[in-house]
Amino acid sequence: MWSAFRSHLLPVIKLYLLGLKVLLVQLFNRPSRLPVMPRQDGKVAIVTGGGRGIGYEVVRHMARLGAHVIIGGRDEQEGLDAVRRICEEYKEAKVEFKKLDLASLQSVRQFAKSFKQRELPLNILVNNAGVMLVPEGRTEDGFEQHFGVNYLGHFLLTWLLLDTLKDSGKSGYISRIVNVSSSAHCIGEIKLNDLNSCQCYSAHAAYCHSKLAQVLFSSHLHQEMQQGGFPVSSCAVDPGMVDTALYRHMWTPLRLPQTVIACLLFRTPAEGASTVLSAALSPALEGGSGGGYWANGQRENSTPFDPQLQLSLWEVSLQLLGLQYSSTGLKDDQQD
Ligand SMILES: NC(=O)c1ccc[n+]([C@@H]2O[C@H](COP(=O)([O-])OP(=O)(O)OC[C@H]3O[C@@H](n4cnc5c(N)ncnc54)[C@H](OP(=O)(O)O)[C@@H]3O)[C@@H](O)[C@H]2O)c1
Repeated sequence: MWSAFRSHLLPVIKLYLLGLKVLLVQLFNRPSRLPVMPRQDGKVAIVTGGGRGIGYEVVRHMARLGAHVIIGGRDEQEGLDAVRRICEEYKEAKVEFKKLDLASLQSVRQFAKSFKQRELPLNILVNNAGVMLVPEGRTEDGFEQHFGVNYLGHFLLTWLLLDTLKDSGKSGYISRIVNVSSSAHCIGEIKLNDLNSCQCYSAHAAYCHSKLAQVLFSSHLHQEMQQGGFPVSSCAVDPGMVDTALYRHMWTPLRLPQTVIACLLFRTPAEGASTVLSAALSPALEGGSGGGYWANGQRENSTPFDPQLQLSLWEVSLQLLGLQYSSTGLKDDQQD
């Protein structure tokens, strides 16, 4: 009885209480607005899941500033539609859509390979795509969906693009990796012996675990880049509670109240995008001051994450993905 409560009901209660707290904070804080950002002409950015929601607003804003933006997404129609709308709004926009399914490691590899064949620089990588509260299921490679899509797919994508990010960074403009996480990370837990939630599945818990994994990855990657002296930073961002389709898998009886509350109290996708854009574009972060955890438009002084847990998760993830790391660079066991 207690174990059923602990594994199924407790994560639900914890997530909704956290949501309530975040909403109250949002209610008493003005929505974060994007400070004026410099032009981004000549910069190349990849935004995963940029066809709608927060990602779409990130792409739209970057394109307006002159960046060449590539949307990596699974739904071609949605992606092409997003490209069309942005190009209608800004005639000069340089935006394109490329197929990327983060639930398939083969698709991630294919996306990275095609991008690298074009020999473009890569200045900004926004790991934004995500799923929440999806029913129990597996990715193509057998990973639990939240863990596989939100975390592991992005880990591999970042890994495969890391040398391009390193080569594209300069002392005046370091390359930036922005991992769109969530405040839900703080109630997540990393069980290294059960990353796929096989022992007991709760969609609520699985989402929180995947968001914690993203934060730990982001922090460890940033340290790796700093220690190696590479011109690349990595940060994690909480966009706040934002009115998007992310909530569509919520329990049906809660959908109607959620829709009403979202209309009244959630941030708009553009407001949610503002913290992501600050972390990706702010000139104040040059000179080695990148990294960290961002929320409400600014970097937060969060308690540092357990370095041993970061390292263990990093190593297990490399094993799961068949990757090797050496001090001279990365090695992908499956790269051709
Ligand atoms: N909304 C919030 O309140 C909130 C709060 C905290 C954090 N976040 C985070 O913000 C990020 C963006 O979410 P959102 O609110 O903008 O939700 P959204 O509107 O549902 O957007 C999610 C995007 O991710 C894409 N995606 C999902 N699975 C994918 C896959 N396997 N491969 C490639 N793309 C995939 C979706 O495309 P498809 O059409 O293919 O599904 C969609 O474009 C997520 O990481 C989320 O966890 C959101």
